[in-house]
Amino acid sequence: MSKLVISGGRKIDGTILAHGAKNSALPLLAATLLCKGESVLHNCPNLSDVDAAIKILNYLGCYCKREGNTVTVNSSVVTKNEIPDDLMREMRSSIVFLGAIIGRTGGAIVSSPGGCELGPRPIDLHISALKKMGVTIEEEHGFLKCSAIDGIIGNDITLQFPSVGATENIILAAVLAKGETVIHNAAKEPEIVDLAEFLNKCGANIFGAGNDTVRIVGVDKIGPAEHYVIPDRIEVATYLAAAAVTGSKVNVKKVNPEHMRATLSIFNECGCVLSVGDEEITIERNKRLLSVPMIKTMVYPGFPTDAGPPILTMLALADSSTLFIENIFQNRFKYIDELKRLGAKIRTYSNVALVESCKKFMGAKTAATDLRGGAALVVAALAAEGITEIDNVYHIDRGYENIERCFSNLGADIKRV
Ligand code: EPZ
Repeated sequence: MSKLVISGGRKIDGTILAHGAKNSALPLLAATLLCKGESVLHNCPNLSDVDAAIKILNYLGCYCKREGNTVTVNSSVVTKNEIPDDLMREMRSSIVFLGAIIGRTGGAIVSSPGGCELGPRPIDLHISALKKMGVTIEEEHGFLKCSAIDGIIGNDITLQFPSVGATENIILAAVLAKGETVIHNAAKEPEIVDLAEFLNKCGANIFGAGNDTVRIVGVDKIGPAEHYVIPDRIEVATYLAAAAVTGSKVNVKKVNPEHMRATLSIFNECGCVLSVGDEEITIERNKRLLSVPMIKTMVYPGFPTDAGPPILTMLALADSSTLFIENIFQNRFKYIDELKRLGAKIRTYSNVALVESCKKFMGAKTAATDLRGGAALVVAALAAEGITEIDNVYHIDRGYENIERCFSNLGADIKRV
């Protein structure tokens, strides 16, 4: 099991390029199942979650090729419609393949995704929507057996919660459905817009992605397309937080600041100086971080839950306290016990964390508990005086491409051993 060893307490500087968004690449890879032919995804990040999605596509009969950050998927032939348990477990978000597999083959057998580090990951919204679209779903022995023998039928769906994954699954199931599907209370994340743009390039008829109501008019078939994955707004937030905690000036390129308004306003509020271009952000912090009294994670365009761990870590070093409320996931604070090993003064109760001011972090032995919590430990370690070890780096590799190279290119003393 590899770990990161970081000697922190020093400034970083330079330019870093953001990668393509993991949470866009995954549904886009699922979408290639619907278009018979060879699709090309550029700016596709080199991550273990993306590798897992490619493994699933290959298992289903597609032929996938990766050249650097370009992934080609030939889905002319799909020979299976079930995802084996081990592949389902490798990536919690593989549930997003469900709609695409049923859309392509008329049925699917998947194991219900286990919990994950963030607590239970229910899929009730996915299931009830697909059932409304004519899919029969039997849940037995931890497996979901889905079939739509007369094809998927478009319908009017209202989501109780604007779930990102459920919105994506409904769109993927509706593209080749008979008739029209309207999603009310749809998720509005940029990754939904990216998915709709790709599918429309393939010949789908999707209207209103990025708004509360999305309309999909089913078509008989769609073809392959070439697409450029949007930048990863959460990876960028992580780099900005690292610059903020080390009192550095860092330039991040290949970003879309439009996707980051709620996050960037926090950096402004705690006294960082941002200069924002069309596709780049330069951040500089040269005085004590100011606290932000309260932060609540919300669905897009509110403050994103995934940016919570690195931002909370930054605020743990601010001049006063922050009340941090996590409204999306039940159990997203597991990393905080690890942060406290570095000296952070944080008390949590249910989904609320009271983050008190801490002058500085001291290096310690830690272990990543989940993807974004692990990234938060990297941010903390870069600020901490002395040596910090971070075990279970595999969590971080799910969502950050070669994180140690990114930070060593900025002059950080970080090694993977
Ligand atoms: C996506 O997860 C992202 N993952 C998550 O990123 C992100 O945190 C989340 O959206 C919210 O923005 C991918 O895109 C692969 P949800 P998803 O469905 O689709 C509950 C990361 O770190 N819910 O919007 O699973 C659910 O339990 C990951 O990159 C139900 O109750 O998020 C959660 O509390 C973490 N029933 C809330 O809704 C359902 O049927 C948000 O879930 C579905 C979800």
